[in-house]
Amino acid sequence: MTQILSAAPIKKKITKELKSDCKFLKENGIHPYLKVILVGNNPASLVYTASKKKYCERIGAKCDIIALDEQIELIKFLTIIDEINHDNDVHGCIIQLPLPKHLLHLDVGKLVIQEKDVDGFHPENLYSVLSNQNIETHFVSCTPKGIITLLRESQIEIANKRVAIIGRSMIVGKPLACLFTNHNATVTLCHSKTQNIREITKECDIIVSAVGIAHLVDETFISNKKNQVVVDVGMNTNANGELCGDVNFEKIKDLVSAITPVPGGVGPMTIISLAQNLLQASKNRLSL
Ligand code: GUN
Repeated sequence: MTQILSAAPIKKKITKELKSDCKFLKENGIHPYLKVILVGNNPASLVYTASKKKYCERIGAKCDIIALDEQIELIKFLTIIDEINHDNDVHGCIIQLPLPKHLLHLDVGKLVIQEKDVDGFHPENLYSVLSNQNIETHFVSCTPKGIITLLRESQIEIANKRVAIIGRSMIVGKPLACLFTNHNATVTLCHSKTQNIREITKECDIIVSAVGIAHLVDETFISNKKNQVVVDVGMNTNANGELCGDVNFEKIKDLVSAITPVPGGVGPMTIISLAQNLLQASKNRLSL
């Protein structure tokens, strides 16, 4: 029987821990507070940011979505972030991506200060992932962190495994390659210019797809040993406007040992990781 790697039972367990941590922080005078900067009306971003706010409030944290006009002037945008960076009541801040075209030239990872960068995009946070140092006090990107949590909580061994990651983005593929490496896996990071991707994925124990191409990964990527683990990061919409992953779940679910569903797999794990990072940012204040 294929193991379905659902986030639900893990979410239940971690939510309990986060509620308790949040209560402890509040008893010690710290009310965890996240600000989410949302520019424009990207439909996916509207849904994601609303889910982030809902989950923060569920665990007892505060969360405000700062909804900004698509055309906001650069100087105004930077001023708002600067004010949040200096606001002692705020513990975490994320800038929801993608940004509109006129803001794309910005080095977005450097806008929110390291201490509040609960997205894990700041160079100093990325360096802690690269060097595998200070991971407890720094912030790991939410989707990669959520994938590792999902696998570990599902008792899927990572050490000594061969991993193929499809997609080399700054927020998923690259940091995830580092995290798997830190956990003693051997990683092949594949992308659009990789030759013979299927030969690589067939040789691996764990396959992660994070490219945003609906149903890219089908039976041609899978070995016939029925022992692979497939993780689907994709959140795509198909021709009927329905949410679907990068993986053709129906085609491969009986050919693998474990697989994440979409929705209900990596998506909720990303939000849990964000909440964990927010509480870590809040705890870091206790020791100041
Ligand atoms: N857009 C898609 N995923 C993410 C994420 O993890 N963080 C932010 N800030 N924007 C995103």
